[in-house]
Amino acid sequence: MNKKHHFLSLLDHSPENLKQIIARAHQLKKEANRTYRPLIGRTAALLLSLNSTRTRVAFETGMSELGGHTIVLNPNETQLGRGEPIEDMAKVLSEMVDVIIIRTLEQNEIDTFARFSDIPVINAMSSKLHPCQLLADIQTFEELKGPIEGKTVAFLGDGNNMCNSYINAAHQWDFNLKIACPIGYEPDSEFLQNFTNTTLTDDPVEATENADLVVTDVWSSMGYEQEANERKKIFSPYQVNESLLDKAKKDAIFMHCLPAHRGEEISHNLLDDPRSVVWQEAGNRLHSQKALLEFLLTEG
Ligand code: CP
Ligand code: NVA
Repeated sequence: MNKKHHFLSLLDHSPENLKQIIARAHQLKKEANRTYRPLIGRTAALLLSLNSTRTRVAFETGMSELGGHTIVLNPNETQLGRGEPIEDMAKVLSEMVDVIIIRTLEQNEIDTFARFSDIPVINAMSSKLHPCQLLADIQTFEELKGPIEGKTVAFLGDGNNMCNSYINAAHQWDFNLKIACPIGYEPDSEFLQNFTNTTLTDDPVEATENADLVVTDVWSSMGYEQEANERKKIFSPYQVNESLLDKAKKDAIFMHCLPAHRGEEISHNLLDDPRSVVWQEAGNRLHSQKALLEFLLTEG
């Protein structure tokens, strides 16, 4: 197995490969072919140090629909929890399963797994990146609006893992990204440098004006819950509500990776607004993650 075939970040793959994954996601969704079983006899180890609904259900259902099997591991219940090094765990899992899927706060733990693994490693979210979510978001945009290339996306709120992943996506799919964050909560400069199609402001209206897609995420991500009260005050001008969304293009759509906090980063009824496409976006986690598994685990 070529060790380069990990999926740790959207920058690990060429724009052509990413477009191929999305094209397959569209096809797999349309065909809903219950007899297509390219992963018979293949096993995924899904290591979840953090809570998950969508990512876990999409990977487990996706593996099973493609003919494979998933073992869900709480790392604390494995020998990792008793101090076995990640390096050793990566080598052991490489002997027994076909893909390692990891969610943990520490991106460097995922990177270490990838370095010592002989099988593909997928980043199922760290506090830095959430590349799997972006596959579903791009698929959803394309379904509703056509190619995202050249379009304008507004990301409002915290410069978190979703924001960093949107910066990478803007580079790979060549769309314009306008980020509005409170001062002090900007995305890491390592993600911003060199990418000319992303702009940063602290003005939510400026970022939203003329956007084709408006995106937000929670104000306190996993690992930052203890800052929630302070963040609610600082982030309140960045709430996406109906009137802020009115500043975007007339036919703009709204996405949120979920889970959402009504009354915080979104107004109470925003998910019921006709411009919100969050349920379709959540559903596309399944199709895009199936396409990713197929891309990483089959020759085709
Ligand atoms: N959007 C997302 O990754 O959801 P989960 O945390 O439920 O997996
Ligand atoms: N930014 C959120 C995404 C959850 C899917 C978090 O890290 O908690």
